[in-house]
Amino acid sequence: MNTITAAITAVGAYVPDFVLSNKVLETMVDTNDEWITSRTGIKERRILKDTDKGTSFLAIKAAQDLIAKANIDPLEIDMVILASATPDMPVASTGVFVATQIGATNAFAYDLQAACSSFLYGMSTASAYIASGKYKKVLLIGADKMSSIVDYTDRATCIIFGDGAGAVLFEPNYEGLGLQDEYLRSDGVGRDFLKIDAGGSLNPTSYETVRDNKHSIVQDGKTVFKYAVTNMADASELILKRNNLTNTDVDWLVPHQANKRIIDATASRMELEDSKVLVNIEKYGNTTSATLPLVLYDFEHLLKKGDNIILAAFGGGFTWGSIYLKWAYDKK
Ligand code: UT7
Repeated sequence: MNTITAAITAVGAYVPDFVLSNKVLETMVDTNDEWITSRTGIKERRILKDTDKGTSFLAIKAAQDLIAKANIDPLEIDMVILASATPDMPVASTGVFVATQIGATNAFAYDLQAACSSFLYGMSTASAYIASGKYKKVLLIGADKMSSIVDYTDRATCIIFGDGAGAVLFEPNYEGLGLQDEYLRSDGVGRDFLKIDAGGSLNPTSYETVRDNKHSIVQDGKTVFKYAVTNMADASELILKRNNLTNTDVDWLVPHQANKRIIDATASRMELEDSKVLVNIEKYGNTTSATLPLVLYDFEHLLKKGDNIILAAFGGGFTWGSIYLKWAYDKK
């Protein structure tokens, strides 16, 4: 009997046209290009300016890009998972709307929220459905309109985040390619360090919450940074050891793009040379659920069938982990 593994067989993406550069941010808050570049590695980010469009717009575009590139019939998609921290609405699943809009009307769909680890956790979920043998095509989309929850007077957050979306298709593989191992963790100690205070069941929207600006994302950057560096590096080191991999066995590191210094610390712990570390943070900033698929999309041309890839993420909550994946195809 052949064992089923879950492999990524296609990638799609979308970022909005509008570019918010460090230079423009200098005119909005007390910051400068040199500080942002040296402390984060970010030069610019994309922003969805249309006020009548939400995260679903980004997700639909990324999914449609994948469907066109891979030439698949959306009716064959069994399941759509939307990884996102910024759903269109608090209630009424954005993933369900996206699935219908892309014509995946035979699929069931839902949203998955784990802050910046949403896509990594979604990979685990998508893979488990495929490995069960019950589903043949699972579409995982990571999409976030971070600009909808960023306070553009807060220099601690507005310089970091951007909008974007990426999508991958998971299908069964019988050659042992695809997801090999995962190490996923979470710790509620993180709740106070990265959050939106109001608008949930604990502190519902009121005149006071709006007046007091409690609906934007706030973070204790230093604390989040410390936890991120330690945990992303620990998780990546652990997954290497557990799979008897050394730095020479790893072809690529695909890290969450929150801060170039966090990426460097993870790569250094894995003793990886820079050329194996895939980074596009300078173009998009931190797009939360979209960073991992946007990296896969931007560097798809470098990935070869059989390549050993380590994906790693850290996010609010706290949530974090690492996944070991064998790439399943050469780009045509
Ligand atoms: O995806 C998961 C979620 N988020 C993260 O992973 C983010 C993790 N944290 C970070 O990336 C970093 O903590 C930040 C980029 C947010 C901040 O960098 P930092 O090196 O930790 O800076 P800091 O907060 O320790 O601030 C250092 C100094 C402070 O000034 P003083 O007190 O030394 O005079 C800040 O007020 O830099 C100041 N500062 C700024 N200066 C210019 C803070 N933000 C800015 C800014 N421009 N945008």
